[in-house]
Amino acid sequence: MRRSTTADLWWKNAVIYCLDVETFFDANGDGCGDFHGLAERVGHLDEMGVTCIWLMPFYPTPDRDDGYDITDFYGVDSRLGSSGEFVEFLRVARDRGIRVIADLVVNHTSNQHPWFQSARSSRESPHRDWYVWRDEPPTDGPEGVVFPDQEKSLWEYDEEAGQYYLHRFYKHQPDLNVANPAVRDEIARVLGYWLHLGLSGFRVDAVPFLLETEGALDAEELPDPHEYLRDLRALLSRHNGEAVLLGEVNLPYPDTMRFFGDEDGDELTMCFDFIGMQRLYLSLARKQAAPLAEALRERPAPPEDGHWATFVRNHDELTLDKLSKEERQEVFDAFGPDKSMQLYDRGLRRRLPSMLDGDLDRIRMVYSLLFSLPGTPVLFYGEEIGMSEELSVEGRNAVRTPMQWSDDDNGGFSKADPEKLVAPLVRGEFGPAEVNVVSQLRDPASLLSWMKLLIRRYRQSPELAWGRYEVLSVDADQVLAHRADQDGGTVVALHNFADEPVEVTLRLDGLEPGDKLVDLLADGSTPVADGEVKVGLDRYGCRWLRVVKPGEVFLP
Ligand code: NOJ
Repeated sequence: MRRSTTADLWWKNAVIYCLDVETFFDANGDGCGDFHGLAERVGHLDEMGVTCIWLMPFYPTPDRDDGYDITDFYGVDSRLGSSGEFVEFLRVARDRGIRVIADLVVNHTSNQHPWFQSARSSRESPHRDWYVWRDEPPTDGPEGVVFPDQEKSLWEYDEEAGQYYLHRFYKHQPDLNVANPAVRDEIARVLGYWLHLGLSGFRVDAVPFLLETEGALDAEELPDPHEYLRDLRALLSRHNGEAVLLGEVNLPYPDTMRFFGDEDGDELTMCFDFIGMQRLYLSLARKQAAPLAEALRERPAPPEDGHWATFVRNHDELTLDKLSKEERQEVFDAFGPDKSMQLYDRGLRRRLPSMLDGDLDRIRMVYSLLFSLPGTPVLFYGEEIGMSEELSVEGRNAVRTPMQWSDDDNGGFSKADPEKLVAPLVRGEFGPAEVNVVSQLRDPASLLSWMKLLIRRYRQSPELAWGRYEVLSVDADQVLAHRADQDGGTVVALHNFADEPVEVTLRLDGLEPGDKLVDLLADGSTPVADGEVKVGLDRYGCRWLRVVKPGEVFLP
């Protein structure tokens, strides 16, 4: 039976919560969040129903790219605490049954990393070949600067080295040469180190760039880069059989599929669904289900044990790079018309609630989609309470403000003087006075209460995580309806993208007279006649309906 055979595939129905230790909770009052503070707040995540925490980079760093510029892959940044406090946090999380994964950022290092310092110092340095060097930047090298507002080229001349080095991202982030076996061995050591301290896997940063070897001189002679990913996955599994690799791969579906590995899924365990996420915003902008429905129909099934990772927002800009220019403009017009909200002409540096003008019905509908559509849901801290961005903070940092715990000073995040805070708080209508954990905990109508209900129902409904799913045809363009089936159980979910109530007629194969559809997000049930049923939805309404057979007892 599928349900029992997949029970150990914990990631399939996980609830992943991404956070940055420095902005989560400051226990020692220095203005910067820390592991001690995070350990104190694990209870909040547990009570919400989170099953896995994804830690953004917490390693020593000059912090010029929010920690994605690392100077020691084996350490904990001293601002966040000690290695002992890191392990203590892991223990607290484990005590609550919460797994922890962390960012693995090995496409590049900081230029302050001792390896790069050594590499640039001499051609004879044992680390020279750990990076990718050229006397002249190649004209036919890899294309595409990731941060076009800051960087003009992928190659930077280093005076000390007397050569150019490759950097996919900022020039202070030289790319590691993964074609070099010594680099591969070191990355293997990094993985092993953290797995043995207790991590359950990694979110792998910038996977396509990590595998890219075009920059290497003898690229043609190199083995297939995917072999490297297969090796990493095998190594991971040897260390910890339940550990996962969750990959950042923002490519069209067919290209992303290659990163799961061949049919047996021997590379990444999960890939983020960047396409579905972008189409969701197009659907929201048009108030029509079609763009998202098309993405779901187009989306290939992952390998048996793999899964898509679904998300509404993350720590970067809301990238819209896979939409056409016109489609992107539609989303800009709807959710980020002001230039100050846009980034690199391809994304928005905003969070969802402000884009939706704080419309709680609409926000609730979006998270209902997140938890009912197939894929492992990944939340970014603060989403559970509807935090917004602070546009006065530069670039992508606009969405990386401190967690809003209460309406106390500094939003309850820290007792430090406000000017000492690691990042400014959100101001205005979405600031801590209005939006915070404490007040929402007390309010059954809050977004946080809704999020808890969604998570509880999602975890109670194995069909959603493990089942076969089908996007259903309905007689209303504004409604997305889908069903998920597993072991004879069926859950149907409906979402109304428009701000008018609507009634749809659903035709459901396999339903018999006497069956009823029991609401999972509200009280009530609807009888089914001849496999057909009429379902009403409020403006931006959503319903999850479980098929219950006559005589079957359903415990809500
Ligand atoms: C992807 C991360 O999500 C982003 O925040 C970072 O700047 C780049 N990788 C470079 O590490």
